[in-house]
Amino acid sequence: MADLPSGFWSGWIIVLTLVSLAGVAWLSISIYFSKDAETQADHEPVWDTDLKEGNNAPPMWWFWMLFAAMIFSLIYLMFFPGLGSYSGLLNWSQGSRVADSYANYEATFADSRQVISDASLEELQNDLDLMATAERIFTRECSPCHGPDGRGQAAMFPNLHDIDWQWGGTPEQIEQSIRQGRNAIMISWQQMLGNDLDAVTEYVSLLSEGNNQSHAGKAGYDQNCVVCHGPTGDGNQLLGAPRLNDDTWLYGGDIDSIRMSLTNGRFGVMPAFDQRLDDVQIKLLVALLAR
Ligand code: HEC
Ligand code: HEC
Repeated sequence: MADLPSGFWSGWIIVLTLVSLAGVAWLSISIYFSKDAETQADHEPVWDTDLKEGNNAPPMWWFWMLFAAMIFSLIYLMFFPGLGSYSGLLNWSQGSRVADSYANYEATFADSRQVISDASLEELQNDLDLMATAERIFTRECSPCHGPDGRGQAAMFPNLHDIDWQWGGTPEQIEQSIRQGRNAIMISWQQMLGNDLDAVTEYVSLLSEGNNQSHAGKAGYDQNCVVCHGPTGDGNQLLGAPRLNDDTWLYGGDIDSIRMSLTNGRFGVMPAFDQRLDDVQIKLLVALLAR
């Protein structure tokens, strides 16, 4: 109410509120204490031996309940915001409640947050309580995609506990993945490879075995893929190009999945969290994942 656009509307609401309160007061008093109610009883018609028109007054405790509610409303409106833009004697507002709880939060946790900020990653990793806190943050923020234990899911969201990092596994690289997010770009190769697509697919699936120098897909791979995935399929963390010569696959390492990766391209998006989490939370997550 405190942000009503003009004094007129505030005044209008004050008048409406007070007039309706007075109206309710007048109505209930007139029902309970009008003289009519008593005189009427004298000329009530009786139709049958005991069927007569009645006008029984509602029980008196209803009146006292209404009365108490009205007194409560008045007291409430005196102390709390409710009458137009009048903010009440207590100056209470939802905004100040939020500010209060922030101040409270700061006072309670400032020290332990400072401890976390100053600690090294090893110290954090050795503190089981803090790691449990980090796991809770992970469950809340990251599990929907990376799975409850961070081991990836749906052949779409990477396992974060293997040694195979797409964008790098140093604390700095992990922190960057979390803060800035990551946008992987691998275009579709269907046009470019044409008839060679199947051969290249097979060549990729054989990369882990080495000794495939005479394979029909090698030329297509060397020409198109080496820039990002490297001549032997080691990948490139700067580009987020995954290693192709091991058993860890983001989207699947069977022939069909690889063919799908080449046909449609892959565009994995890791959202940025630097607006959503604060420095302490991010540091805890980095400690958790860099273990
Ligand atoms: C511009 C760099 C770039 C080039 C060139 C490129 N890739 Fe990729 N590739 C990537 C990136 C980045 C990803 C990760 C996509 C993601 O995470 O969504 C990827 C993912 C893949 C995957 C999925 C791996 C997995 O773990 O599931 C396969 C397979 C693949 N590339 C094969 C190839 C082949 C074959 C070629 C050549 C025809 C090629 N790529 C060319 C950047 C590239
Ligand atoms: C909306 C889904 C989503 C959420 C939520 C999400 N991620 Fe991711 N994350 C992804 C995807 C998809 C990738 C892979 C991007 C790619 O293909 O390169 C990824 C990649 C990563 C990587 C890089 C992995 C590597 O191998 O280099 C890290 C680290 C990471 N996420 C951490 C987190 C953390 C920590 C959280 C929680 C704060 C989180 N993610 C929340 C979808 C998500």
